[in-house]
Amino acid sequence: MEYNAKRRGFIKGAGAALGVAAAAGGVVALYGMKRAWEPLPSVKAAGITEVELGALKTGELMRTVFRGKPVFILKKGEGMPLNDRRDVVINGESYTIVVAICTHLGCIPAWNASLGLFRCACHGGEFDVSGVNTFGPPPKPLEIPPFRIDGTKLVLGEEGDEYKRLASLG
Ligand code: FES
Repeated sequence: MEYNAKRRGFIKGAGAALGVAAAAGGVVALYGMKRAWEPLPSVKAAGITEVELGALKTGELMRTVFRGKPVFILKKGEGMPLNDRRDVVINGESYTIVVAICTHLGCIPAWNASLGLFRCACHGGEFDVSGVNTFGPPPKPLEIPPFRIDGTKLVLGEEGDEYKRLASLG
């Protein structure tokens, strides 16, 4: 009799211990899952591209990649028409900053420095020095990516005042 009572007590105790262990295991597993769901710092940072523009020469085109898309940054030079609705002005210099994906069917246009335009080889579409569609099938200008200006640094992926001003102009 006494043996059975001890045995029942042992079984109850073991059951409770197992329950506590299972609950603790569940908490650990949930914590691990939460950590697994959270994006890594490198992934969080992947939405932002920082570009130093200080060394870019007048009339020079710089290429970068933002969220997997090509971006052209052109520092406008002499003889290149300005466009108040699209130019990004940094320290008095005007830049064209556009996603380099043709608004027709998505080819990557090429910069033609001698003609001062972006030309898409796929169907002959053309965009002027500010990225405005001027010829062929592209239905609208090249997209201006969200950006913020930080000194001479361009931060793609954040919406600063200059971007909001241009976006409000359409
Ligand atoms: S994809 Fe550029 S003109 Fe058609």
